[in-house]
Amino acid sequence: MREIYFDNAATTRPFEEVVQRMVECLTVEYGNPSSLHRKGIQAENILKESRKTVAGALGVRPAEIIFTSGGTEANNTAIRGIVRSYSNRGKHIISSKAEHPSVYMTLEDLKKDGYEVTYIDVDGYGVINPDKLADAIRKDTILVTLMAVNNETGCVQPLEQIGEIVRRKNHLTFFHADCIQAFMKIPIDVQKAGIHLVALSAHKFHGPMGVGALYCKKGINLRAWQTGGGQELGLRSGTENLPGIAGMGKAVEVFGSHFREYTERMTVLKERMRYDIGERIENIRFNTPEGERGAPHILSVSFRGVRGEVLLHALEKHGIYISTRSACSSKQRQAGGVTEAIGLSSEEAEGTIRISLCPFNTEEEVDILVDALATEVGALRKLTGR
Ligand SMILES: Cc1ncc(COP(=O)(O)O)c(C=O)c1O
Repeated sequence: MREIYFDNAATTRPFEEVVQRMVECLTVEYGNPSSLHRKGIQAENILKESRKTVAGALGVRPAEIIFTSGGTEANNTAIRGIVRSYSNRGKHIISSKAEHPSVYMTLEDLKKDGYEVTYIDVDGYGVINPDKLADAIRKDTILVTLMAVNNETGCVQPLEQIGEIVRRKNHLTFFHADCIQAFMKIPIDVQKAGIHLVALSAHKFHGPMGVGALYCKKGINLRAWQTGGGQELGLRSGTENLPGIAGMGKAVEVFGSHFREYTERMTVLKERMRYDIGERIENIRFNTPEGERGAPHILSVSFRGVRGEVLLHALEKHGIYISTRSACSSKQRQAGGVTEAIGLSSEEAEGTIRISLCPFNTEEEVDILVDALATEVGALRKLTGR
């Protein structure tokens, strides 16, 4: 059966060029960047090159990029690093009610060490209210941590406005942005938005799993939470995942050189999908904002009277892969989190699915998905009498 993959916010298929580059690193250029001989220097050059590529795409300096084992580690390194270094300034942190577990669970853990966390409300799509953020910033606020694109709804946070508020209310407060769903999907201007720390993950843009990066603005002194050989400016000890890092660099290079074309293609497909679903299926709610307030690759829809998980498996029979909510929260069966924060009823939360695109999906695939959705939602509603 033909497979149609619409779960690209969970992970993406690596580019051919990425796989090739990684194979070269595993078979030929397999040295340790810390070794002093030729093979080590060759490996160190690969590391340098990837760092330069990632930094270039973000518009920052290579020395400000630290490679990590993925987005979760980048978020942890940023948040835990700031609180360990700057707790003398205060113990108050601000975030939102719609963050990814790699941020939310980290903050919940810090609460056990006496940190106070304010989670600000979000609107029906997951966007924060800037006035509420301004009100929440205090003298002892050391960190504001917010995601640039929500992984469940695809809403885009107004990063530049947030950065301006943080600067104005407390110039000593750090601003960390989880850009894992945003990087390579929307333009990010780190300088203009005044962001101090940015988390990235390669497998969200056709790079490999298990590798990510953290941008940490020059002059910020993060205290490492992993000790050892002092790699990655002492912030991430351990032999570098060189094939992964080379793959990440290649993915940035390939995606970055097609950025406009790829993002426009996804936007067109997403809007076509939204229109067709809206035309064909009744009693639904879109949780993704229209236009540029939504990222190009995510469409979240709630089908009342249908269980998202049952729908997911029904679509699987057509060879179509989607998610219920996000890959990370879909296995935690409890309600709440983002769906509660955006005000969904329990029936809507239960019936929510996330369709996420990549630049290689086609109009034909969208048509097949919409047909299958119309058929399966109709059949499931008939069965439950709703
Ligand atoms: C917004 C967001 N933050 C963090 C992560 C975690 O990234 P990783 O899977 O690389 O640990 C994800 C992954 O789904 C995400 O979507």
